[in-house]
Amino acid sequence: MSAETLSQARPAPPPQPPAVRVRDAVVSYDRRPVVRGVSLDIGAGEVVAVLGPNGSGKSTLLRAILGLVPLTAGTVDLHGTPLRRFTEWARIGYVPQRLSAGGGVPATVREVVASGQVARRRRLSLPTTEDRAAVTEALETVGLLHRSRDSVHELSGGQQQRVLIARALAGRPDTFLMDEPLAGVDAASQQTLADTIAALSGRGATVVLVLHELGPLEPLIGRAVVLSEGTVGHDGAPPRPFGDCARDGHEHIHPHADAAGGASALPTIEVPRRD
Ligand SMILES: Nc1ncnc2c1ncn2[C@@H]1O[C@H](COP(=O)(O)OP(=O)(O)OP(=O)(O)O)[C@@H](O)[C@H]1O
Ligand SMILES: [Mg+2]
Repeated sequence: MSAETLSQARPAPPPQPPAVRVRDAVVSYDRRPVVRGVSLDIGAGEVVAVLGPNGSGKSTLLRAILGLVPLTAGTVDLHGTPLRRFTEWARIGYVPQRLSAGGGVPATVREVVASGQVARRRRLSLPTTEDRAAVTEALETVGLLHRSRDSVHELSGGQQQRVLIARALAGRPDTFLMDEPLAGVDAASQQTLADTIAALSGRGATVVLVLHELGPLEPLIGRAVVLSEGTVGHDGAPPRPFGDCARDGHEHIHPHADAAGGASALPTIEVPRRD
């Protein structure tokens, strides 16, 4: 049988389920609902921004998608599997909004990045050469290879943010949920990260980004979900001018920045690529 006949005989691949499916999700803190009936599908391979003012429930929605906070009502499916039965955590890369402060044994930058591979490791197995190379590559991508042996506590807020991004990259997931990954990150690193996300997207990764400003990610974002007091106020093309919608009368303060001016000074600056 010729190759052509074979390819004709092959059945069409089954349609891929959405990477993330949220239905009528409600999340409450102390009985106060902060996510109030959100429904959302994020297709495999989509790049979606989640926008909205401070306190509108963006982080809570992301955490609920990952099962880090319980749903009061509604459902979440990841890659076609209800959250409570989902086990393929190696497919998911999560960048939390901030590195949790203080406490515990001081971890080095390299250790934190390598911790992103725990979900893909078999019990008791040691990191492979490939795993170690992926950690090195992730550190290189965020420009922190030279800080590998330093304690994460010695880094600035923006550098810590880059460590969290490297940790998500090191696990080589296909689905990223990133909560304000560019906040407090200097302009050159923002552009590098935008290039990285573009490359991941080019390889078919699903990327959900909570953003305050689109900044250098703007060319990548075709769809924005805008939360307003815990509900979806808009789902479609990114609203323009985006700044009005994001701030909505709120000042968005990020306490850490590793560049003069902080994140709010960055979005329209054209930055030369570093490589
Ligand atoms: N652990 C918690 N316990 C109680 N209330 C919380 C908790 N986390 C968040 N909240 C409240 O829930 C609401 C939504 O918070 P959330 O952090 O999801 O908003 P956000 O859109 O991510 O805001 P920001 O832009 O400031 O990051 C806010 O009113 C917040 O104060
Ligand atoms: Mg948040």
